[in-house]
Amino acid sequence: MLSYRHGFHAGNFADVFKHFILVYLLNKLKASKPFSFIDPFAAAGKYLLEDPFMNKNKEYLNGISKVLHADISDPLIMNYLDLVRKTNPNKQGNKMVIYPGSCFLAQLALDQDDYIYLSELHNNEFEILKKNFENDSRIVIEKKDAYASLDKMITSYQGTRLVLIDPSYELKNEYDKICKLIKHNAGQFPDVCFLVWYPILEAEKTNAFVKQFIDLKIKNITNIHIELKNTFLRMQGTGFFIINAPSTMQKDIVPSLDILLHILKDSDHFAKINYNVL
Ligand SMILES: C[S@@+](CC[C@H](N)C(=O)[O-])C[C@H]1O[C@@H](n2cnc3c(N)ncnc32)[C@H](O)[C@@H]1O
Repeated sequence: MLSYRHGFHAGNFADVFKHFILVYLLNKLKASKPFSFIDPFAAAGKYLLEDPFMNKNKEYLNGISKVLHADISDPLIMNYLDLVRKTNPNKQGNKMVIYPGSCFLAQLALDQDDYIYLSELHNNEFEILKKNFENDSRIVIEKKDAYASLDKMITSYQGTRLVLIDPSYELKNEYDKICKLIKHNAGQFPDVCFLVWYPILEAEKTNAFVKQFIDLKIKNITNIHIELKNTFLRMQGTGFFIINAPSTMQKDIVPSLDILLHILKDSDHFAKINYNVL
């Protein structure tokens, strides 16, 4: 049974990096139509700061709140922050009462002729997701097991497709399941762009996952591995695999990632980003 609720973590530093990269990819890839965004691990889509989940650990205080209040002119980070601001009632300032998840960022970033597919397996999250997105004809929402159905989800769309693989890693064998899922789907859909998120918790487990993923020998993989080592957080960093990243992605986003790292790192600790095109 699934117990993870993304509200506990919404807007934390890992969400900031993930959603920054997601918004970059959405904006870049949607230029080639038809375009579809497929989010098989969707969660609820929007998170209220006053909700007990977000209120419990207030992880956003070490994430999006710091970025919203920093002095930033980087245009790519501004694209992401503009969407966070648009989610909120006063649309422009830094006052945040709602943090947008991946689905809501996509809904805001995409055009009228783009498509969005969302799937969520957790009963309560699924009900909230449906309520949050019920009146948008671009969006299809289903309660499907991503591991069993991703290939069918991807097959339902034509043209340029971006798939976000953002599981909760709450199952013991979830790293293995992700590798199998990617092996199958990247093999079947060699032109699809996949953005795969992973947390850095225990170094040994994370390193084994990174090695296992690289050993799949999929063509055109980028690995972005971000170590913050914040002493006050259990999660020591965050990482991504991007399959079929746009050719200019490294040049485009490395300066922005460095700015985000500088804002989000603990000033007393060493932090670094390894960007590897494999
Ligand atoms: C990390 S959260 C997703 C966060 C969201 N993508 C965002 O960035 O706002 C992962 C979600 O995947 C859901 N989930 C876990 N296993 C799943 C499965 N096999 N199929 C579909 N959803 C699943 C969980 O219930 C959870 O809500």
